[in-house]
Amino acid sequence: MKRSEVKHLLTEGKVGTEVLVKAWVRTKRGSKNVSFIALNDGSTINNIQVVVDMETADEAVLNRISTGACIAVKGKLVESQGSGQKIEIEATDVEVLGEANPDEYPLQPKKHSLEFLREIAHLRFRTNTFSAITRIRHAMIFGIHEFFNNKGFYNIHTPIITGSDAEGAGETFKVTNFELDDIPKTVEGEVDFKSDFFGKETNLTVSGQLEGELAAMAMGKIYTFGPTFRAENSNTTRHLAEFWMIEPEVAFADLNENMDLGEDLLKYLINYALENCADDLAFLDARLVEEEKNKKAEERSPMALIEKLKFVGENDFERVTYTDAINILRNSKPNKKKKFNYLIDGWGADLQSEHERFLVEKHFKKPVILYNYPKDIKSFYMRQNDDEKTVGAMDILFPGIGEIVGGSQREERMEKLEQRMTEMNVPKDELWWYLDSRKFGTAPHSGFGLGFERLVLFVTGMANIRDVIPFPRTPKNAEF
Ligand code: 4AD
Ligand code: MG
Repeated sequence: MKRSEVKHLLTEGKVGTEVLVKAWVRTKRGSKNVSFIALNDGSTINNIQVVVDMETADEAVLNRISTGACIAVKGKLVESQGSGQKIEIEATDVEVLGEANPDEYPLQPKKHSLEFLREIAHLRFRTNTFSAITRIRHAMIFGIHEFFNNKGFYNIHTPIITGSDAEGAGETFKVTNFELDDIPKTVEGEVDFKSDFFGKETNLTVSGQLEGELAAMAMGKIYTFGPTFRAENSNTTRHLAEFWMIEPEVAFADLNENMDLGEDLLKYLINYALENCADDLAFLDARLVEEEKNKKAEERSPMALIEKLKFVGENDFERVTYTDAINILRNSKPNKKKKFNYLIDGWGADLQSEHERFLVEKHFKKPVILYNYPKDIKSFYMRQNDDEKTVGAMDILFPGIGEIVGGSQREERMEKLEQRMTEMNVPKDELWWYLDSRKFGTAPHSGFGLGFERLVLFVTGMANIRDVIPFPRTPKNAEF
């Protein structure tokens, strides 16, 4: 007999049919006469209930079944007597595929803290919360490819091992196959990268952008979707050392079109989740309502999860220049009352997440796209504006998250680009191939990076980025 998936049975199962289910036990309860087992196989947030008649059942088999065990059940689909489910399985045959000793199995049918679950990340897929997040994460991956494919973009694989530091922030993980206690040195006493595996200094990529630009200068519209790595020592609820980024790059697009694309993508994905992940979102929505009860009134979010997603999916984002944002922040209550950790006193300051969140959550009360930032706080490749002070950068800021997208129109003019590289000490000789894109057939173009985990954080309503990637990598943490 072929196994049926729980999702299929719950939505399309016909009463009276014989079925086989293989799944993990969430709970088992019952009496001398009858045993109820709730089973989940990952196909849906919902469990299927198995009813075992103890008069005919093999008690020795039943005794081996507890929360976490994996079992195979044959039986008949019947209308459920109890409330909470329409159908259930009347078991005729139960087989234990794998036991889970209740004295050792760490997951019990009760609420565990997210902190505890992080310590057992190898098992947390088996909770409702993480299986819901995992399915939503999957749906978002699918939605991203669908969005770009529908628009005629090509997906490009950019290298994971690279010789460049695209963002110029120097926060890279080195890639080498030197023996760490015996690193070859040159006569000058410097590391002899020529004798390393690639014959040059290499690191894990921080962004696929530079290579993505090369592809866009031939293919027109491309996007990358790959892992990126940053050795920044930020122990926050928004930073990972290994995260996934979506980076579209579009030839002939200016900054406005770049903002349009970013806004369209985010709305598409939010609506995609609302359409395709209704059960999981309903579960997470209810979970969040419970969580909020433990918070102080002023810390509670003004909207429930699904309400918030609908709001963002339906309303236009606010577009504000950096200069206007600084004026708003300078005159804001928390700035005047010195409530910000970093006070805003003048033009040119880099915005911290407290400022971004003030603009989004308190001032505009909707997503905000900030654009035209001071050139000194942005990367060398951004297009210089005529005011000679700002560049055509844009960041999209989301409630509860802060920056979710960072992008820009690119500097396509060779002279201006070279001048900026010199000013910012970006090695021109190493990036000769990048400069060639300006030397041969250059064209205006724009792109951005969407942090995938920040997107999943927003869509699931979770509070910590460590809970939306299966195996988070953060400072001092690379278990599993
Ligand atoms: O703003 P960032 O650094 O931009 C770039 O890397 C550009 N090269 C993108 C481009 O124009 N093609 O990063 C882009 C996004 C951020 O807005 C944020 O959502 C996410 O990546 N991000 C992180 N997410 C998790 N952990 C981190 N440490 C992150 N750093 C950036
Ligand atoms: Mg950024």
